[in-house]
Amino acid sequence: MIVSPEGMNDLLPDMAFFWNSFRSKALETFGRYGYLPIDTPVVEQTALFVRSIGEGTDVVAKEMFAAISGENLRRWLEEGKSPKAKSLLSLRPEGTAGIVRAVVQHDLVPQGAAPAKLVYAGPMFRAERPQKDRYRQFNQLGIECLGSDSPTIDAEAISMLMDFFGQIGLPYDSFKLLINSIGCESCRSTYREALRSFLLENSASLCETCNTRIELNPLRTLDCKNADCQNVMHVAPKITNYLCNECKCHFDEVKELLCVSSIPYIEEPSLVRGLDYYTRTVFEVQVAEGMGAQNAIGGGGRYDRLAEQIEGRRTPGFGFALGFERVVSALSSIGIEPHVARSLDVFVACACAEAYKVAFSLAQACRAKGLSADFDHQGRSLKSQLKLANKFNALQVIFLGPDELDGNYVTVRDMENHEERPISMESVVVELVAALTKKSESGPA
Ligand code: HAM
Repeated sequence: MIVSPEGMNDLLPDMAFFWNSFRSKALETFGRYGYLPIDTPVVEQTALFVRSIGEGTDVVAKEMFAAISGENLRRWLEEGKSPKAKSLLSLRPEGTAGIVRAVVQHDLVPQGAAPAKLVYAGPMFRAERPQKDRYRQFNQLGIECLGSDSPTIDAEAISMLMDFFGQIGLPYDSFKLLINSIGCESCRSTYREALRSFLLENSASLCETCNTRIELNPLRTLDCKNADCQNVMHVAPKITNYLCNECKCHFDEVKELLCVSSIPYIEEPSLVRGLDYYTRTVFEVQVAEGMGAQNAIGGGGRYDRLAEQIEGRRTPGFGFALGFERVVSALSSIGIEPHVARSLDVFVACACAEAYKVAFSLAQACRAKGLSADFDHQGRSLKSQLKLANKFNALQVIFLGPDELDGNYVTVRDMENHEERPISMESVVVELVAALTKKSESGPA
């Protein structure tokens, strides 16, 4: 049997339904803050990810999926002709790089314009070792705001995320909001030197990976999970003590605005995140209990130089992304199973073979008037058809039998109060529309 690729899962109807409602809720919530939807390709030139996420990051160095056309692959393997730079493609490991590329390419933030506030949702691909809550294809819901370096953007976006968590029923006490500032290029280079000296002094107590990072990317030693390294890093110099005056003011303002919005946060000086484009504010949302090592359900931060890194004009930005599958796990860990209540407006039940053609037309007529409708397509007994209607959560059932066909009427059963009434064939759809509209206006019983 051919199964789905390793670490890549099917979203079966219940979960796909929940993903749709999750996205709609996000569009609605973020829309209140001025965010508009955007969609970019799932494949981009590899160079975009190398330049933005960074060549030395795990995501780029170890986790990218290359994408190549069959013909280019054949030419490469059989004729030794490697593809041109623009045909060296990769599946997107995250959304920010592609969105910033689109903003630069289409000049979405002309000089002096208001910031572009964008929201996106879709699959991302990372060739990680699959385990629970760590997949090779996963869905992210993210936002990016480009064109302002104001701390109000950072605080507004974080508050908006908290607002969204409220909408989906994830309570404050089930997660921690960690924040930090990693400064700008100028304050970070002073810090990098101080950290490098500290790491060299303590290299004997650090793991092999951290030793290789001392010269390449010393900041990444801060979030090493090795217990010995964590002991050492406990007393390492803290980035927040090296912030230049402007970066410090920016961070202070973000924190003040979060306090004003009553959003509890934890300052975590070792939070650096695994992508190279960040400057100043970075943050992560981690589930407090029940999810083990893969407890980050979302994260993001500011990236004021990213547009320039891909040859755009200076366009400061801020954004975040949530991992949909991890949010689902977070909800499950506190006993909330993702569920979207679904019902069928009308089920047409047939008590004789002659009724099926009429059932077909009645279902079509209901759908044309905006109702959801279905009937049995497998010639089941009336009892089984009623079971099906219950499984579909049908609100009204239309019965069609020999008497009804002879008399040109139908029998309609309201599945809530089990009342039955005859209605003429001509007026049944109009009457059902009226009854169901009245029901939905008065709300659930
Ligand atoms: P990230 O922290 O790499 O940030 O990913 C965001 C979220 O995606 C994570 O917190 C996690 O919930 C989920 N995630 C990441 N990798 C996996 C995986 N292998 N399996 C399941 N879920 C995963 C970014 O991607 C940035 N683009 C966020 C951002 C937007 N920063 C600024 N703007």
